[in-house]
Amino acid sequence: MSVKIAADAIIAPIHAELDAVEACMSREILSEIRVVEAVSGHTLFAGGKRLRPAAALLCGNALDRRKLDERAIEAAAAVELIHMASLMHDDVVDDAGARRGRPTAGAVYGTGLTILAGDYLLAKSIHILARNDQNLNLIRLFAGVTVGMTEGEVLQASVSGDITIPVSTYEDVIERKTARFIAGCCEAGGRIGGATEAEAASFRMYGHHIGMAFQIADDLLDLTGDPEQTGKPIGTDLRDGRVTLPLIYALETMDDVSRDAFVQALGRDTLTDADIADVVDILKAQGAIARTWNAARGHAACAQDAIGFLPEGPCKAALLMLAEYSISRHE
Ligand code: IPE
Ligand code: IPE
Ligand code: MG
Ligand code: MG
Repeated sequence: MSVKIAADAIIAPIHAELDAVEACMSREILSEIRVVEAVSGHTLFAGGKRLRPAAALLCGNALDRRKLDERAIEAAAAVELIHMASLMHDDVVDDAGARRGRPTAGAVYGTGLTILAGDYLLAKSIHILARNDQNLNLIRLFAGVTVGMTEGEVLQASVSGDITIPVSTYEDVIERKTARFIAGCCEAGGRIGGATEAEAASFRMYGHHIGMAFQIADDLLDLTGDPEQTGKPIGTDLRDGRVTLPLIYALETMDDVSRDAFVQALGRDTLTDADIADVVDILKAQGAIARTWNAARGHAACAQDAIGFLPEGPCKAALLMLAEYSISRHE
């Protein structure tokens, strides 16, 4: 899985539908209160990979049972609005200055307006779904997903700075804050596309592993990525005390003396870019970076296995590529 995957190839089978999703979102954020529209639009029009709506639409089309209709477009728009709300709130929680290569909404409009605009987007997503009487199951699904995302963010904040957390706590955080949502997008898409219960469970499993792989890779990119490409500064997790998988792995394998020195270095008030580079060198020497990539690769492979049941076709091929893409942004 070392091939660099072009996002364009993944979205090719649903290109027209994704354009319709963009138009739907642009319509939906309109408000008589122009400020809420401006703050929401700040994040919406800053780009973003549209990974979650793409996954939902590809899963919706992959069974080749029902044509993607307005209900599918609206559901895909709703999930991207939930995603955007979560990013706006996350950037406030993380005190992040840059997102998608631009200043965050919080940096431009302040914390209060950003939280409120995030609330607006969440409410809008429910509004969109609630328009269609067939969507009760999707509303239930995304309510559960959103509860999980909040729990994941709260759990993460509550263990901030704790270098003793085990791998299981890290996995619990990312399963709730990221994987459950992507699983929900894939399940919802599958159900809209006419999936049976067993097929819906397989789509969910696929999305779960994509989400795990994606977040593990994202956490690695925080250490090894190119800020030009990620749109986010390097080392933010370390500076903010977020203990991610490479760190947990390295701490596991260090002897007591090295661990004490390492922990002391991490605890400095300000970590410079050179300090971050030193930490990354230590993580590499411990084999922790390679081990973390292996964990991400394992999830990507499980995602691919989960959709083995799908009929061969462009959507299945795109979903297989999406699994590779979720971990290939580093190369
Ligand atoms: C960022 O998600 C939040 C994580 C779960 C790591 P994306 O990387 O999908 O964000 P955009 O939408 O492309 O900006
Ligand atoms: C992403 O979490 C936000 C959610 C999943 C809700 P992170 O804080 O790890 O992601 P980035 O690095 O800000 O995109
Ligand atoms: Mg963040
Ligand atoms: Mg965060």
